[in-house]
Parts: sequence; structure tokens; C-alpha cells
Amino acid sequence: MRSTSALLYLSGVTVSFDGFKALNNLSLLIEPGEMRAIIGPNGAGKTTMMDVITGKTRPDTGEVVFDGQADLTKLDEASIATLGIGRKFQKPTVFENHTVRDNLLLALAGMRSWYRLLTAAPTKAENERLEEILSIIRMGPQQHMLGARLSHGQKQWLEIGMLLAQNPKLMLVDEPVAGMTDVETETTAQVLREVNKSHSVVVVEHDMSFVRALGVKVTVLHEGSTLAEGSLDQVSADPRVVEVYLGR
Ligand SMILES: Nc1ncnc2c1ncn2[C@@H]1O[C@H](COP(=O)(O)OP(=O)(O)OP(=O)(O)O)[C@@H](O)[C@H]1O
Ligand SMILES: [Mg+2]
Repeated sequence: MRSTSALLYLSGVTVSFDGFKALNNLSLLIEPGEMRAIIGPNGAGKTTMMDVITGKTRPDTGEVVFDGQADLTKLDEASIATLGIGRKFQKPTVFENHTVRDNLLLALAGMRSWYRLLTAAPTKAENERLEEILSIIRMGPQQHMLGARLSHGQKQWLEIGMLLAQNPKLMLVDEPVAGMTDVETETTAQVLREVNKSHSVVVVEHDMSFVRALGVKVTVLHEGSTLAEGSLDQVSADPRVVEVYLGR
């Protein structure tokens, strides 16, 4: 296994489904503290890449190294989560019958402690962290609202907050603004920029106005490989990138 200062290092990763290569010799390097946007047409392999990083899918070949030491291809999903890789799926899974605040407290307590949550007051440290997270996700004013009453956007932000509560070293976010209004999309970009002040993030998204608002380095995936990398302006000016997007 290669030693590296990268937070996440993928090299030569290939995943085949019945002979079809969803990932084809994919390489990717994420620096500690970085936020990276991953774009690419439907079927490019973006979600499969997330599945490989989280241990849901085993690559046929290639290296996946986290934090300079752990070979993720040898670990199961639970061990990878414990190492500090958190993933946000597209569909929010907040507890509808609990308030925003209780959803976050539950996430802070590690989801095991319904009993503690119901019987004991949060510690000072938990309260401070709770306030921090509410401020990052901009939901202080909604903290006493029930999950069921939140808008689609608010549910997504709460879920980002619940992921933050677990304090992962790397946060993976797949299509966070799907189904959001323009205003919600803009707010999500601001929330993730705020999250990135303390956490490394890899975010997959089709929405280009969102990717522009993030203002981070972009990797373009196509047919399971990296097609281009750079600022959004740089990759948008790349004729090969224009070709795959126009050719859809
Ligand atoms: N479990 C599976 N079995 C067979 N084929 C799969 C499987 N998972 C993904 N694929 C195929 O692999 C390719 C890459 O899929 P993937 O979901 O990673 O793309 P994506 O970039 O996330 O696309 P989208 O933008 O639509 O979410 C697609 O052609 C898909 O049909
Ligand atoms: Mg996908």
C-alpha cells in the first residue's frame, strides 16, 4: 500500500458489473481540508465511486487509501464509517416526530442513546456543539420545529447537521440540491462552504449553479474515469468536457 499525505487516495480503481466497467482505472486524490465537487453525465460512475469509498462495493482492482494508512478495499462499511467517513444519501432520513434539536442531540449521542436523550439533560459540551451545528446549518430559528414540518431543503440541511454531529474526517454528499428551489440551492452551497471550514467534503452534483457557488476544484468523471480536473471555468472550457455534455 502506498503511503501518502492525501486524505483520500484512489488509484487504478476498476469496478465491473457483468463485464461493464462502471469505474475504469479511476484515480482521485483529496487533500486534507479540501472540498471537491464531482460532476459528470448520468452513468459516469459518481455514485459507484462513493460506494467504493464507503465499502458498499468492492473494486476488482485498485487502491483506496484513507488518511494515509487505511486500505479501504479490505474493510467493511461499518469499519469505514468508524474510521471517519460519513455519507449523506439523497433521501433525508430525519426523525419526523422529533424536533430539529432532538434529531441533532440524538446524532451527537451516537444514535444509541434514545434513553439518555429522554431522561438526561444534554451536557454543556453537547449544548455548545449543538449551537455550533445549528449555526452552520442555519437552523437556529427552527430548532423546536418537528422534523415532519420541515421543508425539503430544511430536511437536507438537518441531515447535513446530523452527519456533522458524528464529526467525520471526510463527508461524502451525493446530489444534495436535487429537488431544491434556487434559493435553497444557494443556501446549501453556503452551508457546505461553512461545513468545509472544519471538515473535508466530496460532493457529487449535476447542478452547475450550485457547483459554481461552491467555488472549489472540480473533477469531471466520464465512463468511469477522470476526464478533466480544475476550476469550473477550466473544465467547462475543455473541449472533451463540452463534448460529453453536449453528446448526452
Ligand atoms: N449494481 C449495479 N449493477 C449493474 N450496473 C450498475 C450497478 N450500479 C451501477 N451500475 C451501472 O454503472 C454505471 C455507473 O452508475 P453510477 O450510478 O455510478 O453513475 P452516476 O454517475 O452516479 O450517475 P447519475 O448521475 O445518474 O447518478 C451505470 O451505467 C449504471 O447503470
Ligand atoms: Mg449517482
